[in-house]
Amino acid sequence: MDHFLYRDGELFAEDVPVKEIAAQVGTPFYCYSTATFERHFRLFDEALEGTDHLVCYAMKAASNQAILKTLAALGAGMDVVSGGEYARAKAAGVPGNKIVFSGVGKTEDEIELALTGGIRQFNVESEPEMAAISAVASRLGVEAPITIRVNPDVDAKTHAKIATGKSENKFGIPISRAKEVYALAASLPGLKVIGIDVHIGSQLTQLAPFEAAYKKVAELTEQLRAEGHDIKRLDLGGGLGIPYERSNSAPPLPVEYGAMVKRVLGHLNCEIEIEPGRLIAGNAGIMVCKVIYVKSGEDREFLIVDGAMNDLIRPAMYEAHHDIVPVVEAEPGQEPAQYDIVGPVCESGDTFAKGRNMAQLADGDLIAFRSAGAYGAVMSSEYNTRPLIPEVLVKDDQFAVIRRRPTYEEMINRDSIPEWLDQTSD
Ligand code: LLP
Repeated sequence: MDHFLYRDGELFAEDVPVKEIAAQVGTPFYCYSTATFERHFRLFDEALEGTDHLVCYAMKAASNQAILKTLAALGAGMDVVSGGEYARAKAAGVPGNKIVFSGVGKTEDEIELALTGGIRQFNVESEPEMAAISAVASRLGVEAPITIRVNPDVDAKTHAKIATGKSENKFGIPISRAKEVYALAASLPGLKVIGIDVHIGSQLTQLAPFEAAYKKVAELTEQLRAEGHDIKRLDLGGGLGIPYERSNSAPPLPVEYGAMVKRVLGHLNCEIEIEPGRLIAGNAGIMVCKVIYVKSGEDREFLIVDGAMNDLIRPAMYEAHHDIVPVVEAEPGQEPAQYDIVGPVCESGDTFAKGRNMAQLADGDLIAFRSAGAYGAVMSSEYNTRPLIPEVLVKDDQFAVIRRRPTYEEMINRDSIPEWLDQTSD
C-alpha cells in the first residue's frame, strides 16, 4: 500500500496534487511520500514485536538525508555499504551503535572511519577482510564487533543480478567453512565476534528461500555456541520483494515474514536484525515525467518521455517492470492505446516498457512510474550530460525539494582543465 492515489481522476502524493509539484519543480523528478516510508518501517518493526530486534534500513535503496532523518526519527538503524553511506547515516543523526556495515570490500579507510565514529557491527565477508578489520582495530586500540556473513547456498529465486546466496556468488563465506572461519576470528586481536549474518538476495517473492537459509543459520548458531562462541545477534539481511506489477503479484507481507523468523529462530534467544531496503522505499516513491513526443513508428507508437535510463536504470538493467500511469486519468469511455515508452538517451536500451497498454496520451501529458522509490535516484547518473533529477518529499499537504536539479554550469564546473590545455588555449 502507498499514498499515491487518485482523487477525482488526478494523482495525488498524500494530499498534494502531483501536477502542482510538476508545475513548481519541473519534470522529470522523484517524489516520495513520508507516510509510506513511515508505514513500511513500522510494518517491519511491528512484525518483530516481542523479540529483541533492530530494523536497519538498507539505505542503498534511497539515501537522501531527508529520507534517512524521517526513518531515524522512528528509531531505525541503518545498513551501510560504503564510507559514503556511513557518513550519510551519521550526518542524518543516526548514532554509530545503530549502524551496521555490510559489503564485500570494505577498505582500511572505511573501516577506520567506522571504528572512530562508532559502529554497531561489521558484517565480515572474507578472511582477508577480517584480517584488515583486526589490524585497523588493533592499531586504534579498540575492539571491532563483528558478525560473519555466511553464504548458505540457497537459491533466492530472483533475478540473477540480485541473487547473492548461491555458492557462485561473491558474497559471504561458504557455510560449510563457517566453523573454521569463526575459530580464526576468535584468535585474532581487536575483534569481538557477536553473531552471524546472512543475506540471500533482493526482490524475493516467496518465504521458502528465506526459511531455508534461516534454518541453516539456526543450526550453525547451535554448532558455534557448542564450540564456545558467544552468538547473540543474527542479522538476517533484507530482500523481501514488493508488488511491482500490482495487477498480478502479491509477495508475502512483513507480518508473515516476521512470523516465520520467530518460528525458525525464536528459540535461540538472539537479538534479530533485518536490513530491508526495497520494501521500505520502493512504493514510497514515484518518478514523474512529461511526454515530449508521441512518435509513430512503422508498427508501433513510441511515447518519448523526458526521463531516461540514466534517471531510472532498472528496466534497462534488470528488465524490471514498473507500472506507468497517467497523472490525470483518461475520461471514461476513451479508447485505450498501446505504447513503447522510451527516454531520449541515444541507446535502444533506453526503453522503459514495450507494448504497454495505457490511456491515450499527448505531448505535454504527465506520467508517473510507480514503485520507483528504491534503487531509482540512487542509481541515476548524468549520462548524456543529463542533470540528476530533483527529489521531492511530501508530508501531508506540504512538499519540499530535498535535492535540487543542478545547473549545467554546476555539472561542467566539476571538470577541471589541466595546465597544459589552459596554456594552449592562451
Ligand atoms: N542487505 C544487503 C547486504 C544487501 O546487499 C541488500 C541489497 C539489502 C540488505 C537490501 O535488500 P532489499 O531489502 O532492498 O531487497 N539495484 C537492485 C537491487 C540491489 C540489491 C542489492 N543489495 C534493483 O534495483 O533491483
